[in-house]
Amino acid sequence: MTGGLVAAVLGALAISVGVQGLENGLARTPPMGWLAWERFRCNIDCENDPHNCISEQLFMTMADLLVSRGYTSLGYNVVSLDDCWPEHERDEQGKLQADSKRFPSGIPALADYMHKKGLQFGIYEDYGNYTCGGYPGILGHLKTDADTFAEWGVDYVKLDGCYADPKDMDQGYPDFGNLLNATGRPMVYSCSWPDYQLASGMTPNWTSIIATCNLWRNFDDIQDSWTSVASIINYYGDNQDDIAVNAGPGHWNDPDMLIIGNYGLSYEQSKSQMAMWAIFAAPLIMSVDLRSIDPKYEAILQNKEVIAVNQDPLGIQGRRISKENGIEMWTRPINPSHGDEHSYAVAVLSQREDGIPRPVTLTLKSLGLTSSDGYHVTDLFDNYNLGVVHPDDEITVHVNPTGVVLLKCVLASAQ
Ligand SMILES: *[C@@H]1O[C@H](CO)[C@@H](O)[C@H](O)[C@H]1NC(C)=O
Ligand SMILES: *[C@@H]1O[C@H](CO)[C@@H](O)[C@H](O)[C@H]1NC(C)=O
Ligand SMILES: *[C@@H]1O[C@H](CO)[C@@H](O)[C@H](O)[C@H]1NC(C)=O
Repeated sequence: MTGGLVAAVLGALAISVGVQGLENGLARTPPMGWLAWERFRCNIDCENDPHNCISEQLFMTMADLLVSRGYTSLGYNVVSLDDCWPEHERDEQGKLQADSKRFPSGIPALADYMHKKGLQFGIYEDYGNYTCGGYPGILGHLKTDADTFAEWGVDYVKLDGCYADPKDMDQGYPDFGNLLNATGRPMVYSCSWPDYQLASGMTPNWTSIIATCNLWRNFDDIQDSWTSVASIINYYGDNQDDIAVNAGPGHWNDPDMLIIGNYGLSYEQSKSQMAMWAIFAAPLIMSVDLRSIDPKYEAILQNKEVIAVNQDPLGIQGRRISKENGIEMWTRPINPSHGDEHSYAVAVLSQREDGIPRPVTLTLKSLGLTSSDGYHVTDLFDNYNLGVVHPDDEITVHVNPTGVVLLKCVLASAQ
């Protein structure tokens, strides 16, 4: 399709967007699920690597394991394709089509498979001429693709931003969101819009992003290393005044996938990622091989108390309170609340690499927890109960190198 036709299509779609958060009723708490990308990438070699290539079999197997290993009952309920699922060409009607060798049953059958298991089905596309992997993008086909996704039974759409001009995104992402809405089928809308704009030096229009997307990326793709996870944590801390306030029920910052259970993170670092994603009110989207994950790592992903912090209905994103000598204090207000006072999750994170479990002494008051009746404090990974702690009481925790201590501090006055 020519640029002129693209402009005509976009022009016809100028629909006003309110300043409130997106109210499609979805993602009232951060989405949870499984996504192929970080672990399985664009491996399309099904002849030589049939068990790991991007194929319907891989997604069906992961869906089976989400259910049988108990992930689904904890809330992980979306199974999502990422890049490299389509054919390189659209069909004669201009519709996207799945790769016929790797997805012989077709996308509607795969969506149906998920639905029969009580799961939701996510798809990937790109607001550009191509996806990052060089497959067809949605430019010039916005309405066709939105309608196709609805017809196929898609529940969740991740829209990337390769091969697009970031300046067009302020128009394009809302246009596609409106087209998704117009289908009448509820679909969670995951955007990469601010990430591409920030990377090109633009200032994102957060008002419009919040009103358009259920979640959005704002920083680099996660890679399988602690360096990558730490860079994301630092970004979220350093830019919290700009981004934390944008999170809330229905609209979330997305620091990218959980890489727990893969190759790059130690056991301590895995707990750190899980704890920080809970503090961030981040989507919990695993990208791991569920066929072979070590039970120790599975237990981190399945920690009910940490998931409950992540899914707290207040939907307030946490903040970094201090960062000193490699030790960071982070807090997130959570329920139960009493009047203006909240309970809190508190993460003491170490980015130190020198051997010992480091003793850290703190008062809750120094973190802004001032309720005079105190807080019932528990450690969520070690299942340790510190009893009632008053704001001025000193407590000491030991934080392992690149590890975390995650405390839940429940208002005594709310009980
Ligand atoms: C997309 O492709 C059209 C048609 O070739 C071209 O005019 C347009 O500049 C391309 N857009 C981007 C962002 O590359
Ligand atoms: C479409 O948008 C309206 C107005 O925000 C909302 O009430 C409705 O739930 C949305 N429908 C879908 C299918 O997203
Ligand atoms: C940001 O988007 C909102 C909602 O679409 C719009 O009203 C506002 O003018 C935009 N702000 C800027 C600076 O473009």
